Amino acid sequence: MDKSTVYELVKSVIGLDYFKVGTCGIDRAVNLRRMVTHNNTTDEYIAYLEKSSGDELALLVEEIIIPETWFFRDHTPFDFLSHYVTNDWLNKHADRQLNILSFPCSSGEEPYSIAMVLRQIGLPADLINIDAYDISGRGIEVARRGVYRENSFRGDDGKEYRGMFSRQGSLYYLNDAMRNMINFRQGNILDAEALLAGENYDIIFCRNLLIYLEQSTQLQICRSLVGSLSVGGAFLVGHAEVNLVARACLSGLRQVKQHGAFAFIKVEDEKIAVTRDEQQERAFATSRRLMNSAGTTVNRLLHQAEQLIEVGDLAAARYLCKSVVEMSPLSSRSFYMLATIATKKEDWLAAQTLFHKVLYLDSSHIEALQQLLECAYQLGDKAQAAKLAARLARMRSRLAS
Ligand SMILES: C[S@@+](CC[C@H](N)C(=O)[O-])C[C@H]1O[C@@H](n2cnc3c(N)ncnc32)[C@H](O)[C@@H]1O
Repeated sequence: MDKSTVYELVKSVIGLDYFKVGTCGIDRAVNLRRMVTHNNTTDEYIAYLEKSSGDELALLVEEIIIPETWFFRDHTPFDFLSHYVTNDWLNKHADRQLNILSFPCSSGEEPYSIAMVLRQIGLPADLINIDAYDISGRGIEVARRGVYRENSFRGDDGKEYRGMFSRQGSLYYLNDAMRNMINFRQGNILDAEALLAGENYDIIFCRNLLIYLEQSTQLQICRSLVGSLSVGGAFLVGHAEVNLVARACLSGLRQVKQHGAFAFIKVEDEKIAVTRDEQQERAFATSRRLMNSAGTTVNRLLHQAEQLIEVGDLAAARYLCKSVVEMSPLSSRSFYMLATIATKKEDWLAAQTLFHKVLYLDSSHIEALQQLLECAYQLGDKAQAAKLAARLARMRSRLAS
């Protein structure tokens, strides 16, 4: 087994699209586990991983996952939850239990925020069922303990709920009544269909995981989760995931118009049609094959990526550009497009690095220089902006003469 086999292994276990998110996180995790397990080289560690039971793989996965979460993350989805349950769900189902799923739940901040909102609007605890899953055994352990640090609270979000914790030094202990409301379980979202078989949820939170996964896996997971959602139920995703779900597939889902809610309502059962995602996945597969053969394919791929940027599908565009970079590492055009994507995400530092790369490959790329100047402004680097403005003026006069 070599490093690329480890990447593939990780992809098959947790669905992580290393092509999209890069391999740094996996490399870092491999290195960390190599040191902990007293292996001298990466090759030795990989051989050790191969020989060891699934435990070592689980420990490696623990180091790869991104457990970032906090109470009332993004805020508006929880306003939507409160409004949806009060004005919609309760009107139809006042007499039965409300069933909610949080998958992935990380260390519990998300499902606890859900529980707090529901208690706040006056729903009795025995009418609430919340199941919460995550692949991380560590995360589930923390969630069950319900003991948090300041880091789990960001800004003023959820300030009104601080009374549900008792504070001892730097630790916040969630009260038992809240802790008892959630059923925490360890589970892999790739197994969602089997894990959730027979369940019928009214609300599903699946936030900030899909974005890291391969497109076909995203689609498969959306289908499994939405399959376990009742008609009229709400499906909430992360802010970076709205477009992929909107595009993905599910003709039975209607996007909620509330800005910042990142929510969908299931309007009908099982009209889960194929869609642009599957078509796109096929297109990508073809692109990958073609990429190896003709030079013109690079242009075609970049043109396709440009179109994706235009329609706002930045993840897919980035994926294509990165494919081109792999095949043609000296293509200034693909770096320029990657930089443009970074500016659209307002990631000015990443954009700056990429525009520098473009200029390194093509020192007369005037648009890259202009954009680099914009990055300096955005980053508040006045000295750099002045230098770039002078360089831009020189380039313009050279081009004019
Ligand atoms: C960024 S956190 C998101 C937590 C929460 N939903 C939120 O939005 O704050 C991503 C979580 O996904 C979990 N995760 C990663 N791959 C998973 C998989 N294949 N199955 C289940 N959970 C997974 C990680 O353990 C991590 O806790």
